[in-house]
Amino acid sequence: MTGEREVVAAALIRDGRLLLAQRTRPPELAGLWELPGGKVEPGETPAAAVRRELREELGVEVTAGERIGADVPLHDGLVLRAYRAELVDGTPQALEHAALRWVDARELGEIALVDNDRGWVPELVALLGA
Ligand code: CDP
Repeated sequence: MTGEREVVAAALIRDGRLLLAQRTRPPELAGLWELPGGKVEPGETPAAAVRRELREELGVEVTAGERIGADVPLHDGLVLRAYRAELVDGTPQALEHAALRWVDARELGEIALVDNDRGWVPELVALLGA
C-alpha cells in the first residue's frame, strides 16, 4: 500500500441521467460542475466515504458500487477515484453546492466540468447509454 489518501467522487445515475453538482469554492472552481464527493477519512472505506459524503452534501442515502474510469492524481498525495452510486432514499438537495443538475449524455458533453473530472466523460457517457 502507498500512503496516498483517496478522494471519492460519486457517479449517481438515474433514468439515463447523471447527477452533477456546481462548486461554490475555491474561487477558481466556483461555477464549475463535478461529481459530488470528498476525502476518505482515516479508517473509512471508500464505499463508506461515498455514502457519508452524499448524505452530507445531498441529504440522500446511496449505495456505492464499482469504480469507474481512471485514477486522477491530485495535489498533496491525494488520488481522486470515481465510483458508481445508486440512490436508495431521498431527493438530492444542494446542501453544500450552488446547484444540482441531472444531465443526459449530450448535456454532459457540453457542461463546464472541473478539469479533474473530465477524463471520466467517455465512461460516463457509456453508462448513460447515449
Ligand atoms: O469535502 P472535502 O474537503 O473532503 O473534499 P473536497 O474539498 O470536496 O475535495 C477534495 C479535493 O478533491 C479538492 O481538491 C477537490 O477539488 C477535488 N475533487 C475533484 O477534483 N473532483 C471531484 N469530483 C471531487 C473533488
